[in-house]
Parts: sequence; structure tokens; C-alpha cells
Amino acid sequence: MRSRRALLYMPGDDWKKITKALTLGVDCICMDMEDGAAASRKAEARETIARALRELDFGTAEKLARINGIGTGLEADDLAVVLPFHPDGVVLPKAETPEQVAWVSEKIEAAELKNGWPVNSIRMILVVESARGILNLKELAAHPRLDALIFGAEDYAASIGATRTAESLEVLYARSALVTAAAAHGLQAIDLVTVDFRDPQLARRDALFGAQLGYTGKQVIHPAQVEPVQDAFTPNNEAIAYAKRVVQTFEMNQARGTGAYDLDGKMIDLPLLKSAQNVLERARAAGKA
Ligand code: COA
Ligand code: MG
Repeated sequence: MRSRRALLYMPGDDWKKITKALTLGVDCICMDMEDGAAASRKAEARETIARALRELDFGTAEKLARINGIGTGLEADDLAVVLPFHPDGVVLPKAETPEQVAWVSEKIEAAELKNGWPVNSIRMILVVESARGILNLKELAAHPRLDALIFGAEDYAASIGATRTAESLEVLYARSALVTAAAAHGLQAIDLVTVDFRDPQLARRDALFGAQLGYTGKQVIHPAQVEPVQDAFTPNNEAIAYAKRVVQTFEMNQARGTGAYDLDGKMIDLPLLKSAQNVLERARAAGKA
């Protein structure tokens, strides 16, 4: 699966921000028709995204289009305008039921068949950001077209009547539930937005905590957040060297018939080996090690 350390949004009607995104070395570019685009600019957002998909070279960056939620009355036109230009993926916000996911997936499949593209070549990513969505994670995460789940903290807090704080303790249950569902289905988990975009160090700290929780990437909204966030999701040289030592010493000890052993005063056994393998997998996905 491709690396999605940072997923950068911009309003879909903003050509300048879309072209700017191409210069940032960001893993993933998400052109937004939903909340980033004003209600009066939905048609411009669709057309601008279609033009970007048609005309621009995104290089190695993934090109995603976020549609409006199911039931807004905008979702069918959003898909109809952007699908003919083959985005790498469609992001569905406010995902709550498996029927909604199936509906979008069927529209995508119809476009794939009509254009002679391989089925499943356009991926789907869900934003889960409501109480109902979190309760239904088990069913939502099971759809085969999915690559990743995104956690939307602002909408979620609003849906349960919580007040957002810098520590984000009020959303911890949902934030962890999403990582668990993603891991159970082999999906990536993309963490909440740090809305204070003028302080990139805050985005880095939030990203490091998200990575500790098991997230593989994070949503970002401003160019200044891209580098610190991608860095936070890339294992550093020290972590990679240690992970390699764990793998080597584990194999050595297994060969000797020892399951658990002492490495520098820390007990190593199978779960620690798996964590070390995760580190090396993330390093490889980020083009390191
Ligand atoms: N993607 C690409 N480029 C962006 C960008 C983004 N999300 N946000 C800002 N930029 C660009 C600006 O166009 C500007 O470019 P320039 O230097 O070439 O003129 C540069 O980065 C600096 O921008 P800055 O002036 O600091 O910010 P701003 O006041 O223009 O924009 C926001 C602030 C929050 C409105 C803007 O960052 C934004 O639109 N973010 C995404 C919002 C969104 O999509 N929300 C929905 C999903 S949560
Ligand atoms: Mg949202």
C-alpha cells in the first residue's frame, strides 16, 4: 500500500493551492468538495478538480477527491464530474453506514467498467467523524475497496457534544477505536487535523502522539505542516537501527530455542519483534532502509 504520512487538503475550487501542493513533496493531495469548499462554490470545486486531474502532473503524490456526504444532494454530481478523470481515490466524509460505502463503491465501479480501467483501481477512504460512524466501524472498515480510515475530530466532538481541547482527551476513545478497526482490516489510519496551522511544531507533536497510538498518517491543512508531519511518521535512524537489532537478535535466540531474552536490560519476545517489523515496514514505505 502506498505511503500516506501526510494528507493535505485544499478547497477544490482553489487552483492556486492545488498547484502549490504539487511543489511540497507531500504524499497525498486531497482536493475538497466538502467543507473546504463554500456552499456557493460546489460547482467550481468539481470543475476545478476535474481540470486538475486532467491537466496537472502530480508526480508521486496521490491525487484524491473528497466528495460531499451522502444525503447532501451533492454527492452524485460530485462523483459524476470527477470520476471520468480517474482520481487515485475518493474520500467519503461523514461515513456512517455500510450502505453508504457500497453506494459510492458501485458508482466508482461503474466508472471503472465504462472506461475499461481495472476494477478497484480507484481506491476509497472513509472519514469517520460521528458517534454513529464510530459505533459502526466494524462494518464500515470491512469494505474491500478501502485503503484507509480517517478520523475527523472536530465533527466527532460536535456530534457527541464534547469541547475540543489541545490535549484531545475528549476524543481519545474514538481516536483509538478507529485505529483498532483499521488494524483489524489491514487499513491505514489517518489522524485528526491540527487546526492551529501557524505553529508547525504543534502539528509535529500531535503527529508523534498519533503515531504512538498506531496511526500511520495525519490530515494536514497548510504547507507548513507537511514536513514536520511526514518527518514524525518516518522512523529515525536510531529507531531503524534498534529495530534491525531486535530482528537479528530475535532470530539468533529463536535458533537457540529461546523465546524471550534480554537486550540491553529489556525483555524481547514476539510482540516486540512485531513492533520492530512495523518500524522497518514504515521506514521502507517512506523510502528509507
Ligand atoms: N494547500 C496548498 N497550498 C496552501 C494551502 C493548502 N492547504 N494553504 C495555504 N497554501 C498556500 C497559500 O496559497 C500561500 O501560497 P503562496 O505563498 O504561493 O501565495 C501559502 O501556502 C501560504 O499560505 P498562508 O497565507 O499562510 O495561508 P492562507 O491564509 O492562504 O490560508 C487557510 C489559510 C487555512 C485558509 C488554508 O491553509 C486552507 O485553505 N487550508 C485548507 C482548508 C481545507 O481544505 N479544509 C477542509 C479540510 S479540513
Ligand atoms: Mg469533517
